Amino acid sequence: MLGILAALPDEIRDLLHDMGPAVSTHRVGMRDYHHGMLHGQPCVLALTRIGKVAAAATTATLLREFPVDRVVFTGVAGGVGADVRVGDVVVGNALVQHDLDASPLFPRYEVPLLQTSHFTADEALAALLHRCAAEFLTQRGGTAGLHRGLIATGDRFVNDAAVVRELRGALPDALCVEMEGAAVAQVCHEFGVPCAVLRTISDCADQDAPVDFATFLREVASVYSAGILRRFLAALPA
Ligand code: ADE
Repeated sequence: MLGILAALPDEIRDLLHDMGPAVSTHRVGMRDYHHGMLHGQPCVLALTRIGKVAAAATTATLLREFPVDRVVFTGVAGGVGADVRVGDVVVGNALVQHDLDASPLFPRYEVPLLQTSHFTADEALAALLHRCAAEFLTQRGGTAGLHRGLIATGDRFVNDAAVVRELRGALPDALCVEMEGAAVAQVCHEFGVPCAVLRTISDCADQDAPVDFATFLREVASVYSAGILRRFLAALPA
């Protein structure tokens, strides 16, 4: 069964609607886990809320309470890659916690005792998300770009061009910044469950980010998530 996670209601409003009335909802640890069929696939849909702790707790509960064998996280992010613009889509190949620093005990970004800093997304899930995002963007028309690469996660809403410059210096491959992906990927890694992360760029993590983020979230985020994941669910092998 597929687990679908997002931080905020606006990011999965349309998907939850698609699940229809045949949903059973289990409430655990202040989170609702909606269990039902979505475009032919049995799924559990849940909102993590914002940040790494919230995302990790929700993912651990999802994997303990339901027979979930793959996880997709969907939501918005701030673009930090040089050619990443508002409205573009990013599919993660790998996820890193940009605010994790236990140096000098461990190398910067390394998760202590896990001997890794980057969690890789499942290749098959990421490739399918990428294909479905390409189809969705082509059908919508327009000039939105599609990227695949590194996603940087941290407990900080970035709205400062100087911080973006710092991030680019420290993690030159990072395409976007968000607040949950690497936490979900770490927990999935620890449980041995494949996962992938899909992000639509809502802002450029600069001084305009709070306004751009809120507008995009309200008007566009759910349309992108649902448009891409509908295709993904229809194409996903059982
Ligand atoms: N999610 C969307 N935009 C973001 C930003 N600028 N910083 C962190 N997370 C985000």
